[in-house]
Amino acid sequence: MLFGIFLVVVFGAVALVLFRSYARYKLNYWNRRGVEQLPNADLVFGHIKDGVLFRTAPGWHMGVLHNSTINKDAPFVGFYIFHKPCLLLRDPNIIKDVMIRRFDNFTDRHYAGTQQMDSLGMTNLFGLKNPTWKYLRSKITPTLSGNKLRQMLPLLMQTAKTMMNYLKEQTNKSNEQAVIDAQELSYKYTTDATANIALGITVDSFHDPNEYTKFGNDCSSISYTCKGLGLILSLILRNGDNLVNLTGTYISGFESSSNSVSFTLMELAENPEYQDKAREDIERAIKEHGLTYSGFNDMKYLDQCIYESARLHPPVPTVDRLTKEDYEIPGTGVTIKKGTPIFVSLYGMHLDPQFFKQPEIYDPSRFAGGQTVSDAFLPFGLGPRMCPGKQLGMLHAKVVLAMILREYSVTQNPESELVLDSRFMFTAAAESISLRFNKITK
Ligand code: HEM
Repeated sequence: MLFGIFLVVVFGAVALVLFRSYARYKLNYWNRRGVEQLPNADLVFGHIKDGVLFRTAPGWHMGVLHNSTINKDAPFVGFYIFHKPCLLLRDPNIIKDVMIRRFDNFTDRHYAGTQQMDSLGMTNLFGLKNPTWKYLRSKITPTLSGNKLRQMLPLLMQTAKTMMNYLKEQTNKSNEQAVIDAQELSYKYTTDATANIALGITVDSFHDPNEYTKFGNDCSSISYTCKGLGLILSLILRNGDNLVNLTGTYISGFESSSNSVSFTLMELAENPEYQDKAREDIERAIKEHGLTYSGFNDMKYLDQCIYESARLHPPVPTVDRLTKEDYEIPGTGVTIKKGTPIFVSLYGMHLDPQFFKQPEIYDPSRFAGGQTVSDAFLPFGLGPRMCPGKQLGMLHAKVVLAMILREYSVTQNPESELVLDSRFMFTAAAESISLRFNKITK
């Protein structure tokens, strides 16, 4: 008996020593190749322990890694997902090389190659690999053209009307002001707008938690949209793969613009002077063009407010690619091996003082005059795989924000504090973005 225990202890100790040596060897890959690597890799989790254990939001965590380099100007840095060597790019020129100039070698996402629980995510454009990706992208891009957006505007406005009725009911109850979760409000709008645009059906999540949306009621944040629409989707699966692909693409895309709306509202609540300016810009554009497509296009200051919010709170916080063949990073003598996942942290780039003065401050004037503020500003990604829904996302966000800001001033709720959701790849609040909506008396 004693001998048995002794053997188990000895084998256990040997296994541990062997594992440690193996892990140390694996976690020294970048050093062996002469590339700076992040310090303090965990023997099991590599550099993603906090993300895997849901201690921090994965996107935010990638930003922390971006800032953990020993050399603050490092153009790229090696790190490990468990024992898998990955490269985090930090230099806008190298990012352009990978995403644009040598796109042929980086057509797929690393994310697309991993097993996903969410089959919907994998059947939409975001998760597809070449050549299926190229085929579907060519089908989806025309559905997002300027002409199509013009046709979508009445549907976005129709949903906005329902939202405004809901806000009126809420504020009527309590002396023309109400505390509202801007994130939930935006998800409800998005659920209805997506159903309307992608499926041509009318859903009113604000007033009728009907058979489509009631499933979302006990789910928080993003799952609200996904569950409600996932159900709608399951009803039409029989209509063929393309519809699933298209709808899945719209659902995941609108989730980003939905979060863009709630984070912009949060920033404008914290910065009333910018909120007033945005309101003036909205009224001016409507006076000149009416509530038309040209009117929304002309709300330039509102654009600036949304861009600045996407800088501080990038809705899709990490962009990734997979190296197809060995690739030498120009001018560095470093070769990245085939199969290496490449990452860019948008939190990292957008909050890097090398690229933005006082990066932590919300200041829409950075984008004045429509200029490109910095090559490090990448809220929609870059190259042939960049977001095809940029214009629609901006239109969606502007319709919702313009309708709200015309009638309500939005102020902070001191009891509410932003905590990012650690369960999702996308940027979202864990609980809520609770704000005060005060009816403007005209
Ligand atoms: C403010 C709103 C939005 C933001 C900030 C955003 C951001 C992004 C980012 C960063 C990517 C990755 C790009 C890359 O890897 O280079 C992406 C991809 C994508 N987005 Fe968006 N997005 C938004 C709205 C939308 C909308 C409204 C749609 C469609 C209805 C959409 C559809 C997609 C699709 C399909 C992809 C994958 C593209 C591909 O792999 O070819 N997005 N988005």
